[in-house]
Amino acid sequence: MSSFLLVAIDGGAASGKSSTSRALSERFNFLHVDTGSYYRAITAELLRRGLRVDQVDEVKAALPSITLGTRVEGRAARMEIGGRLAPEAEIRGPEVTAAVSHFAAIPEVRTALLTYQRGQADVARSHGFRGLIMEGRDIGSIIFPNADLRLFLHADVEARAKRRELEGRADAVAERDRMDASRKTAPLVLASGAIDIDSTYLNLEQVVEKIAGLITEKIG
Ligand code: DC
Repeated sequence: MSSFLLVAIDGGAASGKSSTSRALSERFNFLHVDTGSYYRAITAELLRRGLRVDQVDEVKAALPSITLGTRVEGRAARMEIGGRLAPEAEIRGPEVTAAVSHFAAIPEVRTALLTYQRGQADVARSHGFRGLIMEGRDIGSIIFPNADLRLFLHADVEARAKRRELEGRADAVAERDRMDASRKTAPLVLASGAIDIDSTYLNLEQVVEKIAGLITEKIG
């Protein structure tokens, strides 16, 4: 029995983490944190400052001047940079999507987000949420290795591309996973002790039900 529950969900691109986490946050009154959107927001900011993915030293030099804040909208946490939220259209756009895995592989970029991400548990508590559901690539392995529940969602790459209506773009999804899984710092891995869920043949509702059962068991 735990009064505040910490749930970590990791998985590859388009694995269904976001829709699943959103649905669970509604059902259990958890704060939902999509850390991919944080890496995307930082990427948008770096691109806006004219930085390219190969300018690693310039990126490192720019990081201290990037100030992060959090805005809670409904059950979702959003990252502000310099008091401003980047528009969804920008962070989901092709330039950011192409660059994000490159910037996310820079250790200093990850360090800049580490404490911030851990602090989201306090944001959830101070807003009266019953728990936190955080999704990403290294949540169960690095950010919250002691989370109450650590899940790893995976699905066949073709199935994922289809869900995202990216037919014929399975190669782009696979390439992003390859980069995220092969980087030196905090790669996408199935953390030891995490529960592996294969969603290739499950729809959203079935995945949500499966995890909801695990959460209910933990809540007691
Ligand atoms: O979940 P997403 O596809 O929106 O994530 C965008 C990118 O951000 C992904 O390709 C890798 C990076 N990312 C990361 O490195 N670590 C996380 N915890 C979340 C995302």
